[in-house]
Amino acid sequence: MQINKIYHGNCFELINQIDNKSIDLVVCDGPFGVTENGWDKIKNIQEYNLNLIKLFSRVLKKGGALYLFGKPNCINFIDYRPYLTLNSKIIWYQPSRLAQGRNNFTNNYDIIAYFTKGKAKTFRLDDIRVPQLVELEHRKRCESVPSVINGKFHKTKFNEIGKNPGDVWGDIKQLTYKSKELLSRELYTIQKPIKLIQRIVKASSNEGDLILDPFAGVGTTFAVCRKLKRNFIGFEINADFIAICNKRINEVELKQESELFK
Ligand SMILES: C[S@@+](CC[C@H](N)C(=O)[O-])C[C@H]1O[C@@H](n2cnc3c(N)ncnc32)[C@H](O)[C@@H]1O
Repeated sequence: MQINKIYHGNCFELINQIDNKSIDLVVCDGPFGVTENGWDKIKNIQEYNLNLIKLFSRVLKKGGALYLFGKPNCINFIDYRPYLTLNSKIIWYQPSRLAQGRNNFTNNYDIIAYFTKGKAKTFRLDDIRVPQLVELEHRKRCESVPSVINGKFHKTKFNEIGKNPGDVWGDIKQLTYKSKELLSRELYTIQKPIKLIQRIVKASSNEGDLILDPFAGVGTTFAVCRKLKRNFIGFEINADFIAICNKRINEVELKQESELFK
């Protein structure tokens, strides 16, 4: 398969053309099984995701990573352990999501399940650190409290370039129909923020690596790959979206799109 290209078709078929152990990172933002989109009407989302995990496990290199997006139950009760190792179930927290009824707690997060094939070969923490402001204040206060283990006082170790973003990501907002970054109004349930995909690509790949996005949508992953000098392969069933992806990739270096990467 040619790299830096988006193929039109069903990812379950197209993936058969990818060589074994050739992919460094998979960014998988496919069906959640909750919207009215035809492609999102999945009877059993867990079985669907398990099938994907099996397919990705074949194409991933040893130590390669998969980030699988979904609702909180997206990998419940399935045994992915023979295929990949689950490292984190990242919570993508959306405090401002509108209430969805009165009989339960509103769901305020999506899951991004971070898997690797065995032990991670790449985790570039220094590239994804976030400011430590709140923790720093807290930790400085703690310096005057002796350790519960040995009663000694400890000096705070403070990394100037920031802290690990942790597994609850509340600092990246979902796109709304008002977001500047949104390509068109009707895409707000589909298009992911550049900052979100950028964190994943920066953490789990290096320049020149090969990234697979089997549910390309309007190409956020490829815009990020082009910007960060990663190679990619994409699949998408909607031909109109492929045209949008290609336009976006070509525009990455233009000023307007470039600003979104800051
Ligand atoms: C949530 S969107 C991805 C959005 C993308 N992350 C972005 O930021 O633009 C999921 C996409 O998967 C596509 N899709 C759904 N089922 C597919 C399949 N079996 N093979 C390939 N593409 C599929 C849909 O057309 C849709 O564009």
